[in-house]
Amino acid sequence: MTDKIYAVPEAWRNEARVDAEKYAELYRRSVADPDGFWGEQAQRIEWIAPFTRVKEVSFDTHNVAIEWFGDGSTNVAMNCIDRHLPHRADQVAIIWEGDDPSLSRHITYRELHEQVCRFANVLKAHGVRKGDRVTIYLPMIPEAAYAMLACARIGAVHSVVFGGFSPDALAGRIEDAQSDVVITADEGVRGGRKSPLKDNVDAALEKVSAKTVIVVTRTGAKVDMKPGRDFRYEDEAKKVPEDCPYAEVGAEDPLFILYTSGSTGKPKGVLHTTGGYLVHAALTHELVFDYREGDVYWCTADVGWVTGHSYIVYGPLANGATTLMFEGVPNYPTVSRFWEVIDKHKVDIFYTAPTAIRALMGAGEEPVKKTSRKSVRLLGSVGEPINPEAWEWYHRVVGEGRCPIVDTWWQTETGGILIAPLPGATALKPGSASKPFFGVQPEIVDANGNVLEGACEGNLVIADSWPGQARTVFGDHERFVQTYFTAYPGKYFTGDGCRRDADGYYWITGRVDDVINVSGHRLGTAEIESALVAHEKVAEAAVVGFPHAIKGQGIYAYVTLMGGVEPSERLRKELVDFVRKEISAIASPDVIQFAPGLPKTRSGKIMRRILRKIAENEFGALGDTSTLADPSVVDDLIKNRPAG
Ligand code: WTA
Repeated sequence: MTDKIYAVPEAWRNEARVDAEKYAELYRRSVADPDGFWGEQAQRIEWIAPFTRVKEVSFDTHNVAIEWFGDGSTNVAMNCIDRHLPHRADQVAIIWEGDDPSLSRHITYRELHEQVCRFANVLKAHGVRKGDRVTIYLPMIPEAAYAMLACARIGAVHSVVFGGFSPDALAGRIEDAQSDVVITADEGVRGGRKSPLKDNVDAALEKVSAKTVIVVTRTGAKVDMKPGRDFRYEDEAKKVPEDCPYAEVGAEDPLFILYTSGSTGKPKGVLHTTGGYLVHAALTHELVFDYREGDVYWCTADVGWVTGHSYIVYGPLANGATTLMFEGVPNYPTVSRFWEVIDKHKVDIFYTAPTAIRALMGAGEEPVKKTSRKSVRLLGSVGEPINPEAWEWYHRVVGEGRCPIVDTWWQTETGGILIAPLPGATALKPGSASKPFFGVQPEIVDANGNVLEGACEGNLVIADSWPGQARTVFGDHERFVQTYFTAYPGKYFTGDGCRRDADGYYWITGRVDDVINVSGHRLGTAEIESALVAHEKVAEAAVVGFPHAIKGQGIYAYVTLMGGVEPSERLRKELVDFVRKEISAIASPDVIQFAPGLPKTRSGKIMRRILRKIAENEFGALGDTSTLADPSVVDDLIKNRPAG
């Protein structure tokens, strides 16, 4: 860790919406009087029926119940669109930048209104009603935002599935959400390559059923259309009226489900509701990014992840911002692409992931320096801890030393940012997400649940609720309780390790459970293991993370083959492809080590600690191996560890 500290630049201090003093004062109030604080903040959105109650929360393990603004009603699409029409109908809401640099589109709030209404009417015409789940499996095209907002408009619940997921992963999510309608595109385009989204949906629907598939045209590729099930969006849109009144939706009615990986079992459908989520997404978007009227704001995430939900679509649009949506990748056609897009659209605020920064850092300074980037005022980071070296490069090279970096810590489950600097208030320490946002009460606990004071390191829990918090796991409240509220009863357990320094800054150290973070994507080791053992030649598998220069963590798989099967390079490749097919390219192992045996305790439990150390090439630090049923397997693993 570095001891370097960057004071708030004077210009930022002078213009601050929230300076250091105000932060301290508001923070104190937000935790002392959450009802007063959030009751006021909630006025930033428009309500249909005003709420009279603010926070009604129990973190009691026997009765976890979370409600905010429970008796109010509103509509998220109305807040993101209709509310802005009287004064910003002609302002650009979405700038779409295609994968191909010659393609871009500007969508005004008026046009967004028309498009979302049409989409909502198409959904209605296909029988979608309030509370129904709609699966969205689209590339990064404006229709992804239209489809999400169309669901919100009629009170349907969207479940966006990242376009990089395989048919199997998609099928599991369609089934779990009991979703009758799937929205997809003929193909997706990224980095000059096409991906067969509609074909993937067809493959998924061989395993699970859905009544209706709506297919948006992106490339015009010829795709199979199953009569009575598959419909072209463009044809359907012509048949419906162009206006669609928004539904009145309860503050605690669901807005979306988003599947995310945990340490055990299948991915969980994390459920977010309406009122509190929107208040939290909008307020954090404004204050953490210091969003100002007229700014062009760009978050490079995909809408398939929570970052895309909260900080491409809902937060920015609720604030009437111009949000940029990018279809492509950072290195296509060249490694200058991000910076060229910034110049092309005069981006003021830029929010990306450490893995992208590290990859671009590897390409040197020249591809950055040949662009201007003078429009940029603020930089952001999300998804994993940012190493101080990447932070410094981002600050010095990309931001030319003038732009604060907001390192934002949060999770799918938190709905919005919980720990981050406020650029006009917080001095920056490279690698630290710094201080809690308003209303957020982080605590660091030891393994026994003792709350640690002052400078310390342990597990990160949050002592009380915030409005954007997930309310449950779809269809499995017990799993929600088990996962987040039993390790430290009465507190929300994040699954992250964390250090707090003497200045009260928080430094996230990474996951302490069996979740690995690969290029900012969360993957459960158990998920990858079950994909591997589904292969007929695999008897057993154990997966751990290991430090990876660009991805943050890489995937290291130990595989025991069925009796009589010989290890080979070909089989190694076959297994990598198999995981890709079962889950996604992002889950494919970087290293596969064929292991005749895995280190187990006498009761048969795999000793992952040892496997992690071997993967990290730290053979000297294996610790006590005397409890192993057969200590000799460890020597074998070390001897046969693949180079690299
Ligand atoms: C990690 C993404 C350090 C963390 C918004 C968390 C981070 C997990 C940061 C959630 C950060 C996210 N610094 N670690 N700024 N942001 N993480 O659900 O381990 O995809 O638990 O949400 O990413 O990942 P998720």
